[in-house]
Parts: sequence; structure tokens; C-alpha cells
Amino acid sequence: MVAARITVNGEEAPIAPAPAHTTVLDFLRERGLTGTKEGCAEGECGACSILVARPGVDKPTDWVAVNACLVPVAALDGQEVVTSEGLATAGAPGTPPVLHPVQEEMAVRGGSQCGYCTPGFVCSMAAEYYRPDRCAHADAEGGSGAEHGPNGFDLHALSGNLCRCTGYRPIRDAAFAVGTPTDEDPLARRREQAPPAPVATAYVRDDSAFLRKGTLPETLRLLRERPDAVVVAGSTDWGVEVNIRSRRAGCVVAVDRLPELRELRVGSDAIEIGAALTLTEIERRLGGEVPLLAELFPQFASRLIRNGATLGGNLGTGSPIGDSPPALLALEASVVLADADGEREVPLAEYFTGYRQSVRRADELIRSVRIPLPLSPVTAFHKIAKRRFDDISSVAVAFALDVRDGVVRKARIGLGGVAATPIRALATEAALEGRPWTAETVEAVAPVLRDEGTPMDDHRASAAYRSAMLGRSLLKLYTRTTEAVSS
Ligand SMILES: Cc1cc2nc3c(=O)[nH]c(=O)nc-3n(C[C@H](O)[C@H](O)[C@H](O)COP(=O)(O)OP(=O)(O)OC[C@H]3O[C@@H](n4cnc5c(N)ncnc54)[C@H](O)[C@@H]3O)c2cc1C
Ligand code: FES
Ligand code: FES
Repeated sequence: MVAARITVNGEEAPIAPAPAHTTVLDFLRERGLTGTKEGCAEGECGACSILVARPGVDKPTDWVAVNACLVPVAALDGQEVVTSEGLATAGAPGTPPVLHPVQEEMAVRGGSQCGYCTPGFVCSMAAEYYRPDRCAHADAEGGSGAEHGPNGFDLHALSGNLCRCTGYRPIRDAAFAVGTPTDEDPLARRREQAPPAPVATAYVRDDSAFLRKGTLPETLRLLRERPDAVVVAGSTDWGVEVNIRSRRAGCVVAVDRLPELRELRVGSDAIEIGAALTLTEIERRLGGEVPLLAELFPQFASRLIRNGATLGGNLGTGSPIGDSPPALLALEASVVLADADGEREVPLAEYFTGYRQSVRRADELIRSVRIPLPLSPVTAFHKIAKRRFDDISSVAVAFALDVRDGVVRKARIGLGGVAATPIRALATEAALEGRPWTAETVEAVAPVLRDEGTPMDDHRASAAYRSAMLGRSLLKLYTRTTEAVSS
């Protein structure tokens, strides 16, 4: 096996002798690429944003911005990254480098003061600059409050980047002023070729190993041999454990590039989503086909996190406040689990068994999530958190109702943050089914929803607040959807 190496700004660099848990951020800074900064080391600030060449949705390669503080450098063995230092291009002999268009706009529009956050901002901005389906919005004015610029720039691309001193208006001005890449732009041209293929990796330092196998069967055999292994996909959860809680694993097994976990199939009776597709990939590839998920994605963390986070990882944590489980419960999804002997399909409603526990054995992987079709037409995802974007839920409620001729024929409601596991609101579902979809029904059933689960007081919210939010959510659904329901 070839020694682990990574291409940074066009130059190959060996990963050794970094310890196996070394993050991309520490690796880059150790090599003198100190434009990539550490602000929080937990995916919250974006100072460490870098670009990675990934399989594209509309072109062979997309430049994807990720948090370098969360990703182990060994996970990028054989891959290609660009840092803020790699964005500028060489000038004529004897002249300084030519700033990248996003750097230029940030400079001339006053988008930087102390400069600590700036390299992260320009990397996130560059990823959006190169997004192939970004196109000018004739009707977008880019005024205050606008989320898209006249140049099609989606401000959510910067939702994972924090600035403490400039203020966001000049940064937004810079984002809304960038043009489109020219034909000579090297990073735009790079999109036309395939990204580096994933490579098998066995990076072993001292008593810890980072392992990536090429196929699912090899990975499953490895998991059977190493029950102590920690599985990682996007590492947006695991990276926080490593950095903040100093967790170390003797053996980390990467599953994020396994082709078998990266398929998305829309069939006549089900949609099957590979567990290792990132949330951004799912969002773009589904293109609104599952409205409940389309409503969830923008509320899930930031674009930087969604560029790494996977559905398998969200279910793999078993967290009671993960955002995808309530939605997937409302969609009556099931989880396809694979081990070295075969596969089994488990309804998500039977998957979670206790706080951060599930029926998944250590030698099993989540291969995919299956959502049965047809979908119920009335759906909504209500995430109650302290901030509108980039925050963890205090309470999450997902609805999928089939309302025909003014009557609730079927109700499926998933809840997060009100019990040790994500749960279905079974009493509320039963109370709604067969009743007319009217304000009277909503008034009568809201107390049933308010009493679901066993919410607790914690630093995010009190139990009383959580219950109150449950009760309100049915009314919110009713007022927002009645016009769309056929009666
Ligand atoms: C700043 C920040 C904001 C966040 N905001 C949100 C939010 O708004 N909503 C939310 O729900 N979460 C949020 N998260 C948590 C996290 O991003 C998600 O849980 C994400 O989906 C994890 O996916 P991953 O691929 O990065 O998982 P990883 O970190 O790679 O893995 C997480 C766990 O899942 C297991 N796992 C991964 N893939 C598989 C698989 N295929 N089969 C079996 N087990 C597997 C791993 O063993 C590990 O235990 C946030 C995290 C950060 C750092
Ligand atoms: S250092 Fe803050 S997101 Fe990485
Ligand atoms: S310019 Fe100082 S933190 Fe953004």
C-alpha cells in the first residue's frame, strides 16, 4: 500500500509522521499553512474552512468547503485540498500574487478587520463561487435581509462562518459582488475532471490506526475482526469527541467513500438514501422530492457541517436530539443494516432502544435509509432552538399527515428532544386519525401532543418549555397548511 499522502494547493505531502488522530487543521498548520485557523475546534466558527475536491452533482468535481478541525487528515489520504493560501494565482515575474476574486471583493468592500475569520470566509465563499448551479437571479436585489444575491450567491454558504469584528454587511456585500469564474480559472477548470478516487488506507502510528477499505464486504469483515473499532463518516460528531473530550480510538474505520453506502435510488415504492451521502448531496440530488427533508436540511447545522455530515452518522450517534430521526420517523423510514453475513431492514421506530443506544451491533453498518412511497402530502419540520440556524434542537417535531376530503386519514409524527430516544407521538397520531382537519380538532388534540414523551430540564430548555412547544406546534402546522389542504 502506498504511503498516505494528500495534495495541498497542488503539492503532494506525506501525512506521516502525524499521529492517527491528527486533524487536517493541525496538519496544515504544522506545514506552515497558518491561514487555516483554529477558533473553536468544534465546527462552530468556520475559521478552519478549506476546500476539498469531491464528486460533483452537476460537474465531475465540486469544490466543497468543510471544517478542517473535525476531519482526521488520514481521512483525506489520496485527496486534494485547497487552502486560503492556494486561492491566489501567481502574478507576472517580480509582482505579487493576484488575489482570487473572492479575496479581492473581501478586501475592497471592507470584509475583513482583524482577519482571523477571513481565510475561513474566503474558502466558504470560494466554494459557493464555484458552485456549478449558481446562477444570477434577475429578481434578487441582494438588499438587507436577502438570502440570495443578484449573482445567485446563497448566503447559507456562509452560515458556518462567524466574524466577531467586521460585522456581516461588508462580508455580504463582498459575497453578492463576486462574478462567475472565467474559462482560465484553474479551480473552475479542475471541476471538469473527476476528483481523486478514494484510496484504501492503513495509516498506523504507535498504537492507533486509521483504516479505510475499498469495498463494503472488506469493511464489514474488518468490523467483525475489530469490535473495538470506531466507525467514522463525515466525522462531524467524532471530530468534536476527539478535540473537546480528548477521545482516542485504537482503530478508526472510515466508511464515507464506500460506493455501496453512497447510492440514491428513487423507485416506485421507496426512496433509498445511502448512509454515507452527505446532507448537502442528498439535498441537491433529491431536489425537493421529499418536502419534509427539504424543510429540514436548511435547519440542520451549517452548510460547512452539512457538507460533511451524513445520514448514517446522524442515526449512528443515537442522539435524542438529532434532527433527522423525527423527520424519518414521520416518513415511516426503515434502516438497512449490513454485516458480513448479509442485511436486515429495521423500521426506524424499532431502531432506538435507549439513550444513545440502538439495535445496531458493533459489526453492523447502516447501509441506507428507506423511505416508503407515496409520501403523505401535509408535512412540516419544526425545530425549536435558541438560534434560527446552526444550532442543536431543544425540541423537534416532524409531521406527515394524509388529509383527504377534509379528514385526517393518516398521521405520523416524529419527536426529538422530549425523551431518551427520538419517538413517535403515538397518542397524538391516534387522536388525529379519522377526525376532521379543523381548528376544533387542533384545539382538542394539542394537549395530547403537549403531554407526549418525558421531557427533562437541561441547559437547552426546561421540561415545561419543551411541552409547551409541542402543544403549539400542531396549531402552527394547522395555520400554515390549511390553505394547501383539499377540503
Ligand atoms: C457545529 C455542529 C452543529 C451540528 N448541528 C447539528 C444539527 O443541527 N442537527 C443534528 O442532528 N446534528 C447536528 N450536529 C451533529 C452532527 O453533525 C450530525 O450528527 C451528523 O449527521 C453526523 O454525521 P457524520 O457523518 O459526521 O458522523 P460521524 O461523526 O462520522 O459519526 C457519528 C457516529 O455515527 C456512527 N456512524 C457513522 N456512519 C455510520 C454508518 N454508516 N453506520 C453505522 N454507524 C455510523 C459513528 O460510529 C459515530 O459513532 C452538529 C455537529 C456540529 C459539530
Ligand atoms: S475551528 Fe471553529 S469550526 Fe473549526
Ligand atoms: S475580521 Fe475579525 S473576526 Fe472577522
